[in-house]
Amino acid sequence: MSGRPLPLAAGVLASGRGSNLQAILDEIAAGRLDAAVRVVVADVADAFALERARRAGVPAVFVDPKAAGGSAAYEQRVASVLREGGVELVVLAGYMRICGPTLLAAFPGRILNIHPSLLPAFPGLHVQRQALEHGARFSGCTVHFVDDGVDTGPIVAQAVVPVLDADTEDTLAARILRQEHRVYPHAIRLFAEGRLRLEGRRVLVDAPAPGADGAALIHPPLPA
Ligand code: GRF
Repeated sequence: MSGRPLPLAAGVLASGRGSNLQAILDEIAAGRLDAAVRVVVADVADAFALERARRAGVPAVFVDPKAAGGSAAYEQRVASVLREGGVELVVLAGYMRICGPTLLAAFPGRILNIHPSLLPAFPGLHVQRQALEHGARFSGCTVHFVDDGVDTGPIVAQAVVPVLDADTEDTLAARILRQEHRVYPHAIRLFAEGRLRLEGRRVLVDAPAPGADGAALIHPPLPA
């Protein structure tokens, strides 16, 4: 088995402020994550994530879903932009769309998402409100592979935070977000090192390889 050439080429999809994108860029800049963000794509023209990309010297591309002529055509365009950037791993970071079959087929087993709850609890929207209304004592965040459901894919990594009696949606979201910024780069690092293995719907994490050459390539090949 051959080692994968590092750094991992990542492409980030975002719709908004991009604080997770920033955490990933910062981790790369600090030399703690052997990856390169090759392109940032947003479905919102003024998403601050695009500005963060530009500031970091990363190509920033707005793909207008309304101009694309349907969701398959939109995803085809997004997939082309990612492919042009040589992207091996797609990182959803505050991307407010459900991945459809076109994108899933273009990057099988190679799309990660972060969600601000301990999945499978509280998928979907208004996540902190759901946790507070349910009376959960703990919440957190989950990095998972994306499948054709909503926040249903195999779980890679999670972090837990307490839910305090005085919490509002905003205070809980802020506490969780701090953990997101730790956990997402960690999960991407595991992927980059070729240490994630799918067994059924469980993700097993292999021990670190002794040397770069020992890292096994376990990711499904990209379609031609
Ligand atoms: C995060 O809470 C993430 O879990 C969710 O959307 C939010 C994105 O925040 N999917 P940011 O754009 O990364 O700041």
